[in-house]
Amino acid sequence: MDLPFSESYKIKMVEPIRKSNREERERWIKEAGYNLFRLKSEQVFIDLLTDSGTGAMSDKQWSELIMGDESYAGASSYYKMKNAISDLLGFEYFLPTHQGRAAENVLFSVLIKEGDIIPGNSHFDTTKGHIEFRKAFAVDCTIDEAFDTTLSHPFKGNVDPEKLENVLKKHRDKIPFIIITVTCNSSGGQPVSIENLKMVRQLADKYGKTVVYDSARFAENAYFIKLREPGYRDKTIREIVREMFSFADVMTMSSKKDAIVNMGGFIAMHSAELHCKASVFNIMFEGYITYGGMSGRDMNALAQGLYEGTEFDYLETRIRQVEYLGNRLMEFGIPLQQPIGGHAVFVDAKRFLPGLPKEEFQAQSLAVELYREAGVRGVEIGALLADRDPVSRENRYPVLELMRLAIPRRVYTNNHMDVVAVALKNIWDRRNTINKGLKIVKEAPIMRHFTVTLDLA
Ligand code: F0G
Repeated sequence: MDLPFSESYKIKMVEPIRKSNREERERWIKEAGYNLFRLKSEQVFIDLLTDSGTGAMSDKQWSELIMGDESYAGASSYYKMKNAISDLLGFEYFLPTHQGRAAENVLFSVLIKEGDIIPGNSHFDTTKGHIEFRKAFAVDCTIDEAFDTTLSHPFKGNVDPEKLENVLKKHRDKIPFIIITVTCNSSGGQPVSIENLKMVRQLADKYGKTVVYDSARFAENAYFIKLREPGYRDKTIREIVREMFSFADVMTMSSKKDAIVNMGGFIAMHSAELHCKASVFNIMFEGYITYGGMSGRDMNALAQGLYEGTEFDYLETRIRQVEYLGNRLMEFGIPLQQPIGGHAVFVDAKRFLPGLPKEEFQAQSLAVELYREAGVRGVEIGALLADRDPVSRENRYPVLELMRLAIPRRVYTNNHMDVVAVALKNIWDRRNTINKGLKIVKEAPIMRHFTVTLDLA
């Protein structure tokens, strides 16, 4: 008999989590303005809000903390991080930042000016926020298949070559760079193939453009390439990672994902000139160029995390857990983005709650319902997140209205996944009785989903 699959680690330290009853949760979610970001963590039983900064560090990472060098300039921890980036990702220059959006802020301060156009594959919300804040525009060139949750396509993060070339032709002089997000969070944690990354490189070269990767989940992307792309089965994750980055000029990184740390980020590049220009903004916004908003100990743990995050056994454990939750939900008939993503399961709220109008925020309503049911916290990836159009100020209703259940790395067991699955099944069974959603009471002008106050519609 084949041995069953199991985790590639064992548990050395635990943290208690708290159960609650429905009455308490009803009160807490009302007090939080029906906004899951505004709950206290102690009011949450299983927290699938995000996989960002919520992972469990390894014993080796914790031991690296002790060895951190906290010198203001030229710390050995900076060089440890520099060596890991050069060794694993192939970039000579880098700047540490305190997280991913800080890397975007620094880099875009150099590269973007008002009126620019930035094509890419479903830009992440902070990326889009930093583009629109500079009065520039993000153009989504993702393949159409990504927007049909019922279609199974191995690389739903891919860029449509025709869409990209049309934008490049039409706005040639206004495009400072192309940005590719690996894996593509907004389309459901979906990977981009090597073939597609090569195609983007070729088009970029044809039009003389820089290619930037938003790399938060680059290792998960490499795992999918290994499993799904012809010719890659026998390559190591690190070989695939090197090949992916060989087609990029610059990368931004939220290390809170695939580097398995609680805080941190960086920008890496081949160009000494870009490094020099970005250093000015790094010093202004983040800190001196050899720490950029990070402690020495955190840079040490990050460097170690990059090595652990690119090990096949770790990635297999991680992605198979996400798949486990997805498969349980599918057994119950719950509609999901197909195939299941790398870091999260994305529930199709439009198909889950077809009785609710889009103006009543279907995915947010479903996320609130799941919290009420079992104290499980997911997050809306839909109309609230999509914000208003910066020019018309009208609500934007994206094609996909999703509730994301993001799984922290090395944190929960499959028993927790079972609780989540059954909680959602209970809601699925009574979905026809849910005919009231939510309305906005108060919102911020940009990235409103973090702080919005809602009420029952
Ligand atoms: N790019 C991608 C693809 C992301 O998913 C994120 C963050 C960022 C950039 C920004 O990085 O948070 O370190 O500033 N995503 C988190 C999430 C917040 O929940 O998906 P950050």
